[in-house]
Amino acid sequence: MAFDQSFLDELTARSDIVEVVSRYVQLKRSGANYFGLCPFHNEKSPSFSVSPDKQIFYCFGCGQGGGVISFVMRAEGLEFPDAVAFLAKQCGLPIPEDTQDPQAGRRRERLLNLMRDAARFYYAELWKPENQRVQQYFARRGLRRGTMNRFGLGYAPDSFFATMDAMQAKGYTKEELLACGLAARSEKGNLYDKFRNRVMFPIIDQRGNVIAFGGRVMDDSKPKYLNSPETSIFHKGRNLFALNLARKTKNDYFILAEGYMDVIALHQAGFDSAVASLGTSLTDEQARIIARHTKNIIISYDADGAGQAASQRAIDILKKADLNVRVLKIPGAKDPDEFIREKGPDAFRRLIEHSEDHNAFRLENIAAKFDLEEDEQRVAFLREAAWMLAHIDGAVEREVYAGRAAQMANVSLDAMQVEVKRALSIRRGQQKKAQRRDVRAPAQAAQPKDRALHYPDIVSGRAEEGILALIFGDNTLVSYLADKITPQDFTAPVLRKVFAHALSLYDAGRPITVASFEGYLEPNELSLLARITEQTVPAKREQAMDDYIRKIRGEALKHAQPISEDPAEDPLLAKAKLKSRKK
Ligand code: UTP
Ligand code: MN
Repeated sequence: MAFDQSFLDELTARSDIVEVVSRYVQLKRSGANYFGLCPFHNEKSPSFSVSPDKQIFYCFGCGQGGGVISFVMRAEGLEFPDAVAFLAKQCGLPIPEDTQDPQAGRRRERLLNLMRDAARFYYAELWKPENQRVQQYFARRGLRRGTMNRFGLGYAPDSFFATMDAMQAKGYTKEELLACGLAARSEKGNLYDKFRNRVMFPIIDQRGNVIAFGGRVMDDSKPKYLNSPETSIFHKGRNLFALNLARKTKNDYFILAEGYMDVIALHQAGFDSAVASLGTSLTDEQARIIARHTKNIIISYDADGAGQAASQRAIDILKKADLNVRVLKIPGAKDPDEFIREKGPDAFRRLIEHSEDHNAFRLENIAAKFDLEEDEQRVAFLREAAWMLAHIDGAVEREVYAGRAAQMANVSLDAMQVEVKRALSIRRGQQKKAQRRDVRAPAQAAQPKDRALHYPDIVSGRAEEGILALIFGDNTLVSYLADKITPQDFTAPVLRKVFAHALSLYDAGRPITVASFEGYLEPNELSLLARITEQTVPAKREQAMDDYIRKIRGEALKHAQPISEDPAEDPLLAKAKLKSRKK
């Protein structure tokens, strides 16, 4: 990492986690720990804990955890270096520039400057008199100059070298151009400008840094958009287009659109809380970022089949982040941009006012699959609708939409409710079965929540966790382990990584704490580590240690049965699905 370790130690020592968290969460002491409502997921009773002794937070509800830097990263939506700077500023600690690795610290800054200079270059190119046809392209698409400036739009000239030359003239290196994705390397090994003859959309993070670009052709050639690759400063799943503007909105809702042009058209029309995911389907992380800014989200995807399917997926992801989700239908236009251009902002505002709750949207999508004039298909619709309704947790809400479904199929509410009851009891049966399965298969339940971190050998994995919990609790136990076990003995990659780093910390005379893993581990890995260290450890430490070591060496029973997590599908639904195959 770019920061000197002793600086990070000092920073985390000065930034008490209880104090920092208290600025965001109301905490109450209970025993050794503090508890409050988790700021990272919606909950009614507190499952978010902060340990002053271990200087960690961990949420028993959503499984997120880590040290004070991770907390700030999540709470403020910052990358590691920015979270460090944020905390350093708060405790008045200057960030050392030229300690251990001066280059690495400044490198990021140089890349960000390079991106900003590139954006300025593209902007200047756009407004050159000889590029009037480009200005006209935007004008044809209905963009005003003020809007274009607000989004920093530009133009990448039709050249393989223009951008590189301009940036090299400013002192940036070829290597830096490559590292931030402005240049690409040919098969022969030569560098060339990645963006050529394209209109340019800068992607700007929450702090106002240009971190990437999207570039569009001005005709029908392919690919329509080119986007910056993932780089050390750009992680597309963690950013949203126009979030830098939307975060300042006065609206109590965000609008989620598919395209850059949709977002820009929306902002120009006064809907300044529009954002878009970046050329990929929405990620959980993006949903959590949105949830940090608003409670309400209106999905406004393209009207075509792909857009509707994407809406369904987005609903699930946004619901997981505890957002109230509405879905907007765009009649007579392919996307919000086209709609606003043809019908105007007021018409769009009416669409917002009439946007549907996601339940209604789902019901209508189900209805669209069936011919409700035919009895047999009506039954199939009712069953599928009932199954969907059974997944609504609130009884009142369920009843409202049951009424809606009954109306759609033109059956009595009673008939509908019988169906819903049946679906509900099947669903509850499945949930119970799943719970029993958890009890019977503690091995499966003991796997990390994040599937990417799953242990190949659960018995060994548990023992490896046990060892880590012990040495985090008492660092001196490392010497007890010395020649009994090595990182190579660990079977879970993530735990091996933690153990190896713990040993090197110990050798360097540094404390083995969650804080000293921040910036070294990924956020999901830190969450896992927080959960592990949060556990209470056995009192007889040496004995427990020996026991764990035996298990890791495979002298205990191995082999956990992998168990499928998908509950068996509702047989009724399966039948209805068969029937509903489109002619
Ligand atoms: P659309 O094709 O719907 O884009 O793709 P749009 O914004 O409406 O484009 P216009 O109106 O034709 O200019 C939606 C989004 O998907 C990504 C872009 O982020 C785009 O805004 N995309 C699309 C790509 O990354 N690459 C592509 O080739 C196409
Ligand atoms: Mn479009």
